[in-house]
Amino acid sequence: MRKLLTGFACLGLAITASSALAKDGAQLYKRCSACHLNTGAGVPGAYPAIAGRLQPLASSESGREYLVLVLKAGLMGPMTVEGVTYSSMMPGQAAALKTDGIAAVLNYVMEELNGLKGEDSWTPFTEEEVVAILENNPKVRARDVMKKRAEVFGGQ
Ligand code: HEC
Repeated sequence: MRKLLTGFACLGLAITASSALAKDGAQLYKRCSACHLNTGAGVPGAYPAIAGRLQPLASSESGREYLVLVLKAGLMGPMTVEGVTYSSMMPGQAAALKTDGIAAVLNYVMEELNGLKGEDSWTPFTEEEVVAILENNPKVRARDVMKKRAEVFGGQ
């Protein structure tokens, strides 16, 4: 009986932990939706769409690094998305999100807004991956992140 109870307790903990992370991502995304909207569709000319077009970044090392660095340091400089130019800036979000929050919100964006949930090719971000990327990119600034964007999107 004791063994059975312990088993249930573990199961309960596991469920709580995974739904807490999912909820965190949705909760934290409220920071983003102020600009990119709830759907991630953005506002043409002001805030680029971050829904339905970031999937290719999930499966490349430089793409994943780029996403983490956008959240860490922000993004500044002109860029073009779907033929529309954005010459604005996004403030870095690291102070509010911390490393676990960066992982959780990126997982929300990629799974819920870019349809990767349940895809075999999809590897969720972990806090460890975020920490490693930030260690490899000390003192990165919004302008540097824009240079990386050109590598990731081929200058588009
Ligand atoms: C204050 C408004 C604002 C907030 C808040 C904001 N962003 Fe942004 N975001 C922008 C702008 C503006 C750009 C384009 C920057 C430029 O033109 O240089 C951008 C760019 C991006 C890009 C790059 C897209 C691409 O095509 O390269 C990603 C990814 C992104 N934001 C994700 C997020 C996420 C996730 C959050 C929440 C944690 C967030 N943003 C919060 C304004 C914002």
